[in-house]
Amino acid sequence: MTPQPRIRHRLARAFAHFTQPISAWVVTAVCVVLVSITEPLIPALLKPLLDKGFTQNDFPVWQVPIALIGLFGLRGLGVFISQVAMAKATNHGLIQLRMKMFARLQNADLALFKQQTASALGNTLVFEVQNGAQLMVSSLMSLVRDSLTLLALVAYLLYLNWQLSLIVALLFPAVAWLMKALSKRLYQITRDTQTATDELAYVVEETSLAYREIRLHQAQSMQISRFETLAKTLQRLAMKTSVASSGMTPMTQILSAIALSGVISVALMQSQQTGMTVGGFAAFVTAMLMLIAPIKHLSEITGPLTRGLAALERGFELIENTPVETGGSHQSVRARGHIELENISVKYQPDMPWALHHIDLNIQPGETVALVGSSGSGKSTLANVLLRFVDVTEGKVSLDGTPLQAWDLLSLRHQFALVSQNVVVLNDTLTANVALGQTPDKQRVIECLNAAHLGEYLAGLPQHIHTMVGHNAFTLSGGQRQRLAIARALYKDAPVLILDEATSALDNESERLVQDALQSLQKNRTTLVIAHRLTTIQNADRIVVMEQGRIVEQGTHQQLLEAQGAYAAMFKLSQSGVLS
Ligand SMILES: Nc1ncnc2c1ncn2[C@@H]1O[C@H](COP(=O)(O)OP(=O)(O)OP(=O)(O)O)[C@@H](O)[C@H]1O
Ligand SMILES: [Mg+2]
Repeated sequence: MTPQPRIRHRLARAFAHFTQPISAWVVTAVCVVLVSITEPLIPALLKPLLDKGFTQNDFPVWQVPIALIGLFGLRGLGVFISQVAMAKATNHGLIQLRMKMFARLQNADLALFKQQTASALGNTLVFEVQNGAQLMVSSLMSLVRDSLTLLALVAYLLYLNWQLSLIVALLFPAVAWLMKALSKRLYQITRDTQTATDELAYVVEETSLAYREIRLHQAQSMQISRFETLAKTLQRLAMKTSVASSGMTPMTQILSAIALSGVISVALMQSQQTGMTVGGFAAFVTAMLMLIAPIKHLSEITGPLTRGLAALERGFELIENTPVETGGSHQSVRARGHIELENISVKYQPDMPWALHHIDLNIQPGETVALVGSSGSGKSTLANVLLRFVDVTEGKVSLDGTPLQAWDLLSLRHQFALVSQNVVVLNDTLTANVALGQTPDKQRVIECLNAAHLGEYLAGLPQHIHTMVGHNAFTLSGGQRQRLAIARALYKDAPVLILDEATSALDNESERLVQDALQSLQKNRTTLVIAHRLTTIQNADRIVVMEQGRIVEQGTHQQLLEAQGAYAAMFKLSQSGVLS
């Protein structure tokens, strides 16, 4: 369990995000002070009423409605304005916080996406901060309002009768102790609840992503029981929260009852000596009973305040403690495309085997290099190293003679176009997907889609290039999705092109046509082609054969065939496959 930092520091840190606009807080403060300090006016009005109203004949009755309606009208207005102003400040802080978190998602070190699931991140940005901000601000508000009310009432009580007030004062340390004990317990429960909520949301995320696999393999009951286990954990935690926070109110009330009986007994004993009036006593008891409401509120504040803080802290952790992806400062409008790998090795995890081991590769500007090798031999890892999606464990990689680490990340990635093995499409229009990250030029979008051999598909679409591709691009076939990725790479027109199994989902005829488009693109461009279908890479300037993270052979198609090594064997196998 992480030690719980001082509550004052945590509150100050959280509240720092909600200080704007200052005007809203000034208005809130004025109204809150007004509402709180007028609270004792209610018992104070009782005193003359009881002492004089029932005994004096000339009591001005007309003053009663004016005083009452005026008082409550003023207080009502104060409450209304303060709440609206506070909502304004809360929502202002909330949007700032959300924007900061989302901006952090854009530049966070990529490890974040391995450590946290999409649903956990979604939960933090969408649900937790909203909930946390509301809970925290309204609790703080109540803290201020009820403390002030309490102070005003206590001051009035002291003014009426200080001896009796001393009895009431004994209440405070007892309540404070109860609150402290409760907040400690609730903090841990809240943390556990967050984790359980993330896990629950993750099962939902997974079910939605893998709905076909789940139905096909009849994994429904398995998923349901997973969901049930997690839902029950959450239920247990919710019960724990309720038990912890519900105990507070009756305990405070019992304390209040003890104080009340003490006050009444002492008052009755005193009345014989001091001659306290009925009105004075009634005003005292009323003010004292009115103390119960703010004390109750204050005692109940611990729950929402703790929950709110813990929720917001998840957001702060994301903003403050998530490492940012670090790059250098080297920039280039358009790189020449000279890639150099010097003795690089990559390990994903310390206890895992090398994904790449002692790789040396020098790719000249404009050269087309094909990477071949069995599945898991490290081809995609090598591509990811160039884009700095994976950092090398040992060795040095440079583009145009500048180490990748020294490149400004935006500028570095600007130099690459990638068609990856797993095409990911955003839930937006075709245009937006092709011109991803740029202002779309309609004519060029259409050209690229045509070159990627999607023209025919495009012609059948009622909204043409403005058609939405749907969540996860469910409206596209596997091959269409791949061609969309190719169109995207064509549109980007970057100096280095990486094609990782870019045409694997296409039929032979489409593949040949797309290949033509790609080949014309490869002219004057450094290209890295990864392919299992060896027929597609025969024309490469150089073929590099990989096995278990190492380069075992390289040369042109002809040279490698003559060498009769691994490539020749692979090629023979693929030929016999074609022939049979
Ligand atoms: N994110 C990752 N975390 C841990 N290990 C990984 C990760 N990505 C890949 N690996 C491992 O690194 C090795 C190389 O994987 P890589 O994806 O580079 O292979 P590949 O040559 O592209 O294979 P394929 O032809 O199947 O695409 C594999 O053993 C794989 O299990
Ligand atoms: Mg791969």
